[in-house]
Amino acid sequence: MTLRIPTIASTILLATVLLPAAPAASQDAVAVAVPFPTAYRSWAHVKSMAIVEDKHPLFAAFGGIHHVYANALARTALQKGAPFPDGSVLVFDLLEAPKADGAHTEGARKFVAAMARDEKKYAATGGWGYQAWGGGEAKKPALAKASDQAGCHQCHMQVAKTGFVYSQWRR
Ligand code: HEC
Repeated sequence: MTLRIPTIASTILLATVLLPAAPAASQDAVAVAVPFPTAYRSWAHVKSMAIVEDKHPLFAAFGGIHHVYANALARTALQKGAPFPDGSVLVFDLLEAPKADGAHTEGARKFVAAMARDEKKYAATGGWGYQAWGGGEAKKPALAKASDQAGCHQCHMQVAKTGFVYSQWRR
């Protein structure tokens, strides 16, 4: 699938969203409910992509190599092109991609991001709960409160036609 190029504004938004949250007073202190996807490295690999030059609009936010994983429910939905049932989870695993001797290799993990499907719980963001963890560390969630998920969803709304999911199953 062709990667749709999101707007610069939403790229900046992502960068903001992934920075450690400033301890600001907030009326919405509800924590993001998405749990760290502990087992994702044994899930189905959907696709990978390397963004290695700043001429790509997402370089600032997504520079490196990323792999997308799907749990069993999400994998079946992707393969069938069917709606994602509650319980579906997709993971975006971003690593540095240092270049040496003509090759880009996998470097340190930048973050792990997840989308978890629950139509009722995450009704405000199209039925998807979003969270990201700096360095892929379960104890370092990037989104402090439920309303922060809107920053993720705003970009994913560009692919509303495919259930807010960019990645397609590659045979
Ligand atoms: C600037 C736009 C943008 C923002 C903001 C954004 N994403 Fe994404 N996201 C993308 C794109 C584009 C892809 C597809 C990457 C590919 O094709 O390899 C993607 C892919 C994903 C995937 C894999 C499933 C899929 O849709 O392909 C997950 C999980 C994900 N993002 C989570 C998040 C989370 C969590 C946040 C907020 C912390 C977030 N995203 C914010 C653009 C964005």
